[in-house]
Amino acid sequence: MDYETVAGMYRYIKEGNKLRLAKYLAQAGLTSRRHAEQMIRNGEIKVNGQLVTEMGTQVEPGTDIIEYQGRTIGSVPMMIYVLLYKPAGFICSVNDPQGRPTVLNLLKDIEERIYPVGRLDFDTSGLLLLSNDGEFTNLMIHPRYKIIKTYEARVNGRVGQAELERIRKGLLLEDGMTAPAQVKLLTQDENSSLLEISIHEGRKRQIKRMCAAINHPVLNLKRTRLAFLSLQDMKEGEYRLLTSQEVEALKKCAGAV
Ligand code: URA
Repeated sequence: MDYETVAGMYRYIKEGNKLRLAKYLAQAGLTSRRHAEQMIRNGEIKVNGQLVTEMGTQVEPGTDIIEYQGRTIGSVPMMIYVLLYKPAGFICSVNDPQGRPTVLNLLKDIEERIYPVGRLDFDTSGLLLLSNDGEFTNLMIHPRYKIIKTYEARVNGRVGQAELERIRKGLLLEDGMTAPAQVKLLTQDENSSLLEISIHEGRKRQIKRMCAAINHPVLNLKRTRLAFLSLQDMKEGEYRLLTSQEVEALKKCAGAV
């Protein structure tokens, strides 16, 4: 991906952030998408001082000037989607009353106010998305949309088949039964086991509570995948922008498009 410099990164974000003019007008709250198309057809909209009647016209929020009846129609915020390899020891919130470092401290050159999409515990590492797109965040975290999240959990002791089966079937936690989950035993030594667990729910400390319920407390937890996204060859603390194709595909996974 071509953004070794900050300027390169923003060029890249903007390229992925172009919108069809009608969508821009609808997102800016001017009118519905359908009516916006009619207005474009009628020659009521100007882009950078020029009347535009071409339905497929793409505009760049924050750069192009869109006008209706002499009034500038703005401002559609630029949507940003970041994939971070969160290290343990960072909190997933905007600030922490205890003064611990937050995941936002890891993002050096992003000017937009973005927020974690869901949470990983302070001591959990792995794949975390951040965005300023509230609708997208809801699609990713609401259990109704069934986005699969996969974790590697190093747990205490040697886990047997019967215990794996309890996780597969769903088990009782203090806030109710968990949905059936996928689980694989990856490796095992005399004192611990490495499990790969995939769930679509996102209850607080869910994996830790599930493992505690089968009497194999988690020693170390890392989220390795979210839907089709993985950490590939990223290192802890590194981040990258999602491509617009990845964002669309994630929305599709949630059944939104
Ligand atoms: N489950 C947990 O227990 N902790 C996390 O951070 C994520 C899932």
